[in-house]
Amino acid sequence: MTTNRTFTMIKPDAVANGHIGAIINDITATGFKIIALKYTKLTEETAGKFYEVHKDRPFYGDLVSFMSSGPIVAAILEKDNAIEDFRNLIGATNPADAAEGTIRQKYAKSIDANAVHGSDSNENAAIEGDFFFTAAERF
Ligand code: CMP
Repeated sequence: MTTNRTFTMIKPDAVANGHIGAIINDITATGFKIIALKYTKLTEETAGKFYEVHKDRPFYGDLVSFMSSGPIVAAILEKDNAIEDFRNLIGATNPADAAEGTIRQKYAKSIDANAVHGSDSNENAAIEGDFFFTAAERF
């Protein structure tokens, strides 16, 4: 099944390195419409809850600590085939493996500091969007 919505975060590394504008431009230039947008900061508690699905993975502690280390930009995006098209736009999780021209290839330095998050399924896109945005914050 395809969906027309996905969820993304511009992570603390990309925010700190001044890439918010360039990444949003790449996203909208690819045809995604911004449905919801928020500049905020996760606490260790909220980052831990957001990434709870990874809680048994060895990188969970570092992930939670990194994701709560500075502000992030959260967004819900709309486009036909959103999940797959957005994952193609951002590239592989590890920027070392990310294809030329992808957001992670251009702006990320490591698998932890990998510039952006993108939902991996329709179900998770809905859960992750609901984590950050009320109905009144979507347009
Ligand atoms: P993200 O798409 O936000 O989902 C979970 C994050 O964990 C991932 O991006 C990476 O930044 C981070 N991570 C660190 N190590 C790994 C790993 N070995 N496999 C997958 N994700 C990892």
